[in-house]
Amino acid sequence: MRSVFVAITALIATAFLGLPGTASADPAPILIKFPHVVSEATPKGQGAKRLQELVKQRLAGKVVVEVYPNSSLMGDDESLEALALGDIQMIAISLSALDRLTKKFQVFDLPFMFNDIAASERFEQGPMGLKLLHELEGKGYLGLAYWHNGLKQLTANRPLHVPADAAGLKFRIQSSDVLLAQFRAVKANPQKMGLGEVYQALQTGAIDAQENTWSNIYTQKYFEVQKYATESNHGVIDYMVTVNADFWKGLPPDIRTELEAIIREVTAEVNTHAATLDAGDRARVLATGKTQLITLTEAERAQWVEAMKPVWAQFRGQIGEDVIAAAEAANR
Ligand code: LMR
Repeated sequence: MRSVFVAITALIATAFLGLPGTASADPAPILIKFPHVVSEATPKGQGAKRLQELVKQRLAGKVVVEVYPNSSLMGDDESLEALALGDIQMIAISLSALDRLTKKFQVFDLPFMFNDIAASERFEQGPMGLKLLHELEGKGYLGLAYWHNGLKQLTANRPLHVPADAAGLKFRIQSSDVLLAQFRAVKANPQKMGLGEVYQALQTGAIDAQENTWSNIYTQKYFEVQKYATESNHGVIDYMVTVNADFWKGLPPDIRTELEAIIREVTAEVNTHAATLDAGDRARVLATGKTQLITLTEAERAQWVEAMKPVWAQFRGQIGEDVIAAAEAANR
């Protein structure tokens, strides 16, 4: 009698709750967790939101993208581990953070490598850049696209005109040995730190200075705690939209094709708008009146180049002559 009751209860549950076994049950949507460390108002922040929006429009019920901005879920280093483990599915990681996995992307960190973002775009879309999207496949990561942010500037509480002005300052850097060498080359003290900790570290004086793009300087509010910004344009921050390779290859082909189309569309938008955001955020930082702009003379800039350029020789072997040559050629 009891077993009949159990069987009937199970049948009712199956019919009403759509438990597995019913022909009408829709599979749960595929979840794509996409954490990042920057504000929603940056190129990457906007790209992630746009991706979420387009997926909602075109893959409703099939795929859901959850975006976690501002290091709200995790920082860059943790996100690489979580992606490999399959705890998250997509990131747009700063290329500097890939240092722990391969030295090849460190070409982007070499001081004064790219003249402008157009040059980094040419490199990324050339044969070497496209090949690098697959560089980490053996480690479980697949690159799908590059997104731009902008060129890096130096901020501090003392005016930095020449390299000697940076001596002794504690500079926050991303997790990259090239960036470590770059600041050691000007006799500063670089410290690796996740973006989420930087504002407080600047505020408390745990660090004195940092390098970042105008969009991050503005949206992370560094203008509140840094009196000077030197427009050095000495490096780039670009991103690789990266997925867990197994997850991506295991997607139903029609869904993967649609996601690829969406990513192409979002990439074009991000990369078109990055320069406008960069210029806008530069103006917004200066409009606060809290951070004073330092424009380098040609002779001053030449001193920074001369002081930092030896870093190239230090990493040439690890990055690879072929990668560096392709990047240099992109400057035209
Ligand atoms: C940083 O940590 O400075 C950058 O990686 C932040 C970013 O733009 O992702």
